[in-house]
Amino acid sequence: MKTQPSKVVAIVPAAGIGSRMQADIPKQYLPLGEQCILAHTLDVLLNHDKIDQVVVALNPEDQTFPSLAQATHPKLTTVVGGKERADSVLAGLKIADSGSWALVHDAARPCLKPSDIDKLLASRLDNPQGAILAMPVRDTMKRANTQGKIGETVCRESLWHALTPQLFPAELLASYLDKALQNGVNITDEASAMEWGGVQPALVIGRADNIKVTHPDDLALAELFLARR
Ligand code: CTP
Ligand code: MG
Repeated sequence: MKTQPSKVVAIVPAAGIGSRMQADIPKQYLPLGEQCILAHTLDVLLNHDKIDQVVVALNPEDQTFPSLAQATHPKLTTVVGGKERADSVLAGLKIADSGSWALVHDAARPCLKPSDIDKLLASRLDNPQGAILAMPVRDTMKRANTQGKIGETVCRESLWHALTPQLFPAELLASYLDKALQNGVNITDEASAMEWGGVQPALVIGRADNIKVTHPDDLALAELFLARR
């Protein structure tokens, strides 16, 4: 008897306000070419044939989402997000089917390529407890001292930038996120909750153009990367 392949649920935290972007609207709704950042992100996930469902966590004050063309897509569901990114992800995980894989991807990373999703999904064969897209650090790394001067040079050999998507068995991730939050652990990405639970997620090399739009300068870069497709 053949076992059914597990379902893949994309969870998209989109409940932030984008304070570092200093715009008058949340950054996920800033225009990037013909549509907003969030719309680009959702298109990549909704159009991927191995993603069964997309769950978007929205800010409780959000009134913009229903105006997106993607809002009525049959694969898409929304939930109300929380105070921190981890709370928003947890809200999304609550509606994921049991036994599914959660592919968590920042709304603010609109330049994700389907090939990077494929690469991450393929890594499940060797990594049943999950993996993240990441990039080896390129520059020489410095740690500052309290005076803001260089205290030391940090060996970059084993340093990586953690990107998204991050892919984990949904129930395991929900359980560690929940417990870590209850224990007051600082959770900046899904992997850090898994690490806290004793799991060592795998690092899958991702593309450098999968940037997170964080500061005003990032918009032009994201526009360039999208236009080059
Ligand atoms: N996010 C979320 N819920 C929160 C905070 C953040 O869903 N309570 C989401 C953001 O919408 C974003 C992603 O998590 O898609 C990554 O977070 P970040 O880039 O830090 O976005 P913001 O928190 O909105 O930006 P800032 O930190 O500059 O305020
Ligand atoms: Mg933030």
